[in-house]
Parts: sequence; structure tokens; C-alpha cells
Amino acid sequence: MKLLVTGGSGFIGSNFVLYWIDKYPEDQIINLDKLTYAGNPDNLKGIENNQNYRFVKGDICDKNLVDSLIKEVDLVVHFAAESHVDRSIHDSAPFIQTNIVGTHVLLESSLKYKIKRFHHISTDEVFGELPLASKEKFNEKTPYNPRSPYAASKAASDHLVRVFNITYGLPVTISNCSNNFGPYQFPEKLISLTITNILEGKKVPIYGNGKQIRDWLYVTDHITAIDLILKKGRIGETYFIGASGNDVSNIDVIKQILSMMGETLKQIEFVKDRPGHDRRYAIDWSKIKRDLGWQPQYNFTQALSTTVDWYKKNTDWWQKIKSGEFKEYYQMQYKD
Ligand code: NAD
Ligand code: TYD
Repeated sequence: MKLLVTGGSGFIGSNFVLYWIDKYPEDQIINLDKLTYAGNPDNLKGIENNQNYRFVKGDICDKNLVDSLIKEVDLVVHFAAESHVDRSIHDSAPFIQTNIVGTHVLLESSLKYKIKRFHHISTDEVFGELPLASKEKFNEKTPYNPRSPYAASKAASDHLVRVFNITYGLPVTISNCSNNFGPYQFPEKLISLTITNILEGKKVPIYGNGKQIRDWLYVTDHITAIDLILKKGRIGETYFIGASGNDVSNIDVIKQILSMMGETLKQIEFVKDRPGHDRRYAIDWSKIKRDLGWQPQYNFTQALSTTVDWYKKNTDWWQKIKSGEFKEYYQMQYKD
């Protein structure tokens, strides 16, 4: 089988490519990635000479390039996106371009070349927020209610993917998952930023009161779910992927990391809140369990400890990022 993976040099995409090449060595992968600030060729150094892997630097909005690649493959697994809420608040334009226009270009080309499956990776953020003091969770029937430019652009892409199935019969599947963490996560997201700031001896910024809750999913659990959807998922279906009881407040996530790394709460710094900050996300993943037999395997504390160890061992990887243009972003984001 031949796959086009978009955004394979980012956090989740590179974990997917490494997993797939290892598990299905006979398959061929083309990774189309623009290498934005979040794309990192170092993530895939270990396989760059593998005969079944090809990297193409390019934009998913480039119709001619996308056509030339899609006509070679059986499946498209679409990770490429602008992915950070805070950056979308500063400048939403790249989010509209990549997440909406780019997805549309991929869909049109997939239709033209009769692709066997288009799998779209999406997020729980398209459903807005849940009240803090409730047991309610998002499920596949929850109405869309995005509350950030990032979430709105992902919502638009989900609608387009679904419409290409309904209107034109393109064989699609969609997955919406909760917040991921693990190796190769760009150090702008809560967990990767916290660990690397501690390793640098810096303060750890918490937005607002830190009581917001996320449903933390270890990236390997996300990848195994995508694998199952690609192999057994029903065309036209959406599957929700979440963690098992990992609904933890931001302040508690940070406290756990500080304790694992032998640091005290003095490292915490409360900073200005994110505008429109979603209070809580939680995913009901009973459909994928019932229909495909998937459930998360990783316990939060154990996976968090593995992640802390990975960042400790791979200082070159994140120091290179943090010493570059990231400094300017950090200054702009946390200046107040
Ligand atoms: P990331 O920001 O780490 O990586 C995105 C990748 O896409 C980068 O390699 C980047 O270079 C590439 N890219 C961006 N614009 C491109 C373009 N125009 N053309 C080609 N490549 C482009 O993101 P991630 O965290 O790995 O997220 C991957 C997908 O999963 C995204 O679609 C995101 O919305 C979704 N998702 C992420 C999370 C999470 O917690 N990280 C949770 C739910 C869903
Ligand atoms: P983030 O990792 O950006 O993911 P998302 O916005 O997709 O949930 O943020 C996770 C939570 O952590 C969110 O409630 C915002 C909060 N947060 C902080 O408190 N401080 C930070 O420096 C960052 C990046 C996030």
C-alpha cells in the first residue's frame, strides 16, 4: 500500500510515520510537509534513507504538487495543519489558508484520482467547551461550536471532508481527538513547554487560574486508533479518540511534572489568561471501542514520566528549537 501523509514532520505526523514504517515495512510513505516553524526534519532522521520513505517539501495548498503526489498513492492521511490556539489568536490567516484551503485542495485531488481512503485528523476543540463542574463529554453527535480561530478552521475542514463524502462519494473517515502529549511535541504546548522550561531553569507560565481541564491522550494511543480506523473504519464515519480518565486541570498537570522533576511550586508563574479560554474538554470514546475494539493503553502519570525522560534525553532536539525564532514568539506571547 502507498500512503500520502501530510504534515508528517510535525509532532503527531512524525510519530505516525515512525510507527507505520516499523509496523508495515512493506508499505510506502510519501511525507508532504511545508516545514513551517512546527515541522522538523530531525524527527524523521532515523528513516530518511529507508527505501520505502520519501520526503517532499511542499505546501498542501499547491494544487499541481498535490495532484502529482496523490495520483501515485492509495490513501491520504491528513495531519498537516496550523495547530496552536495561541498563534491563531495572534494571526488567523495561516490557519484559514492551510487548514481550510489546504484541506480543500487535498479533497479535490483525492476525488480526481479516486483515492481509496482520505483520513482526516481533527480535534475535540471544534465542539467548544464543557462546563468545569460536569461529567458531560463530547460524543460523535455533539454540535460544532468552535471558540478560537484554530478551532473554527478545523471545524470548517471537518465539514468539507464530510461534504466530499456526502456529495461526491469520496471515501473518507474522520477522527477527533483530545490533547496529545509525548515525544517530538513542539515546545509551545502546555506539557512540552513546561518540561523544557523546567530543564532551562525558567518559570512555568499558567494562564488565568489554571483550573481548565484537558483529556490528555498519549500520542501512541492516538496513532494506534488511526491505524485501526484505516484498517477497519467504516467509510463516512467519524470516530472520537480520548484518554482513559486523564481529565486533569492544568495546574495539576504542572504540579505533577514539577514533582517528577524534583522542582517546587515556586517555578509556577500565573500569567494573563488566553482570550476565550475553553474551560474543559472531555471525549466519550465508546463508539471506537464498540465498533473497532480500540481503547487507550497508557496511564497518564506513567506516560508523562516517559515524556519527561524523553525531553531530558533529547536536549539537542528542543534546544535547537528554543534557541531559534521561538524566542521571538515566546517574548510576544508571554511579555505581559
Ligand atoms: P504540528 O503543528 O506539530 O505539526 C503540523 C505539521 O504540518 C508540521 O510539520 C508543519 O510543517 C506541517 N504543515 C503546516 N502547514 C502546512 C502546509 N500548508 N503544507 C504542508 N505541511 C504543512 O501539529 P500536530 O500537533 O502534530 O497536529 C497534527 C494534526 O493533529 C493537526 O491536524 C491538528 O489539528 C490535529 N490535532 C492535534 C492535537 C494535539 O494535541 N497536538 C490534538 C487534536 C488534533
Ligand atoms: P495547549 O497545550 O496550548 O493546548 P490546547 O489549547 O489545544 O488545549 O494548552 C493546554 C492548556 O494549557 C490550555 O488550557 C491552555 C493552558 N496553557 C497554559 O496555562 N500555559 C501555557 O503556557 C500554555 C501553552 C497553555
